[in-house]
Amino acid sequence: MREVAVIGVGMSPWGELWRSSLRDLFAQAALEAMKDSGAPRIDSMVVGCMSSGLFNGQEHLGSLMADYAGLRGIPATRVESACASGGAAFRTGVLEVASGASDFVLVGGVEKMTDVSGDAATRALSAASDFEYEAYQGATFPALYAMVARAHMDRYGTTRKQLAMVAVKNHENGLLNPRAQFRQRISVDAVLGSVMVADPLRLLDCSPITDGAAAVVLCPKELAVKLKKKPLIKVAGIGQASDCIALAQRKDITRFEAAALAAQRAYKAAGIGPDEVDFAEVHDCFTIAEICVLEALGFCKTGQGGRFTEEGHTSRLGRKPINPSGGLKSKGHPVGATGVAQIVELVEQLRGSAGERQLSKVRCGLAENMGGTCGSAVVSILTREGA
Ligand code: COA
Repeated sequence: MREVAVIGVGMSPWGELWRSSLRDLFAQAALEAMKDSGAPRIDSMVVGCMSSGLFNGQEHLGSLMADYAGLRGIPATRVESACASGGAAFRTGVLEVASGASDFVLVGGVEKMTDVSGDAATRALSAASDFEYEAYQGATFPALYAMVARAHMDRYGTTRKQLAMVAVKNHENGLLNPRAQFRQRISVDAVLGSVMVADPLRLLDCSPITDGAAAVVLCPKELAVKLKKKPLIKVAGIGQASDCIALAQRKDITRFEAAALAAQRAYKAAGIGPDEVDFAEVHDCFTIAEICVLEALGFCKTGQGGRFTEEGHTSRLGRKPINPSGGLKSKGHPVGATGVAQIVELVEQLRGSAGERQLSKVRCGLAENMGGTCGSAVVSILTREGA
């Protein structure tokens, strides 16, 4: 297998973007990534998208997006794994380059969610749950994660305040990100006083409904060297895993097994452990999700995610900065784009081009992207060459 480098990144604006269509968003991110890469051509394209059929009445995204990105004729395929569609698309692109099948691969992620009503968006998202056993019974994603939160609080003593602190920290980070959907400082009191969505989760515990796209360009490491890409950002390891979708089938709903398995595979491929990761972008679709993911990735002990957050270890200046981009909570969560945008943040941080939100001395970043209540997960580890 060949070593793979990320040589270009791009993003559309994120938010409620009524003036841009699904294809506008994708093309904007793709063109930016291609320009940034300096690649002489694109051989193949992968598009991560969860549910353009339900949100926009549009399927067949591979060819549509290749055409609008000026790439008509190349192989172009859509990849779906619920909210982990972007991460799965990234892994598909990495494997395509690593195998030698293609040299220059564009990986994009896109979702346009605000063209339908809130009810319709909730219904579309519910298609990522076990529809017969969860959504059909009225358990939406906020409700499913509320059950996870309640179980974590009961079992480990995680507090309502600790959940709120995840949102406060991610909004604080998002303030520094010009692309973030919600750039406002919030307090623990504001979270605790926001409207109840699914007990114990309130409005400010939830990621929002978002339109947006992100893209990256990949190539073999030796071609990145020839293109004089400096610093060189390498895909050091990548892992993917699945789990049963329905929470009712799990032994322990507070343990995100797919994220843990994907992480183990990524760590093994990269030849490192959690302690060597300098920072991470993780899937904080709800505040409790970030806490469970900290544990699944091995950043803290099982049951300690809330305390780890409260002690400040996950803040920008902590020993393990989590979600410097603002995360899904503040930056937004256009579901199919999220996994690719996490890679964009990793690359910008590792290049030292993250502007005001730049972390100091980072050489190894990890992205964790998951589908539904972690029925699927992809973990990617990127390093700055020479690290
Ligand atoms: N965080 C902060 N503010 C939010 C927000 C969020 N997640 N969602 C909406 N808002 C704000 C809006 O900007 C709006 O503010 P305004 O009145 O100042 O304009 C206000 O809250 C109401 O917005 P609205 O769109 O009517 O909210 P809603 O009640 O329809 O939706 C949620 C709120 C939480 C139900 C919705 O964002 C949601 O379903 N989030 C979860 C998405 C999800 O499940 N993703 C997949 C994860 S697996």
